Amino acid sequence: MVAAPTPVPGSPQRGQQLIINYGCGSCHTIPGIPGADTDVGPSLAGFGERRYIAGVLVNNPENLRQWILNPHEIQPGTSMPNVGVTETDVQDITAYLYTLQ
Ligand code: HEC
Repeated sequence: MVAAPTPVPGSPQRGQQLIINYGCGSCHTIPGIPGADTDVGPSLAGFGERRYIAGVLVNNPENLRQWILNPHEIQPGTSMPNVGVTETDVQDITAYLYTLQ
């Protein structure tokens, strides 16, 4: 089976499960994630169409990767913690977030 070309590498299906595992939904509303309906952080609904990440970075896969791995390096003082996402997992998480239109 040949997979349809996707704009972002990684597996959105796996990313969805990882988002649940890492508990991103304890702070964010994220469509498709059970229980992810809080508003500590901004809603990630429609994230694939967002222009900026946290208002400071242009929204592209590499910047999103950096943000998830180390929010404090990009935005000192942000209340988003480094939740310890691994290099492998971050790719699938970003793939999922870009499915949110
Ligand atoms: C303890 C709460 C908390 C957790 C857990 C958390 N975040 Fe966040 N997140 C925030 C806050 C607060 C912001 C807003 C940061 C800012 O603008 O300074 C944010 C911002 C973001 C943004 C940018 C949103 C935008 O509108 O630009 C993304 C993307 C994001 N988080 C993804 C994630 C992912 C993926 C996870 C899980 C791996 C996660 N977050 C876990 C609190 C959290």
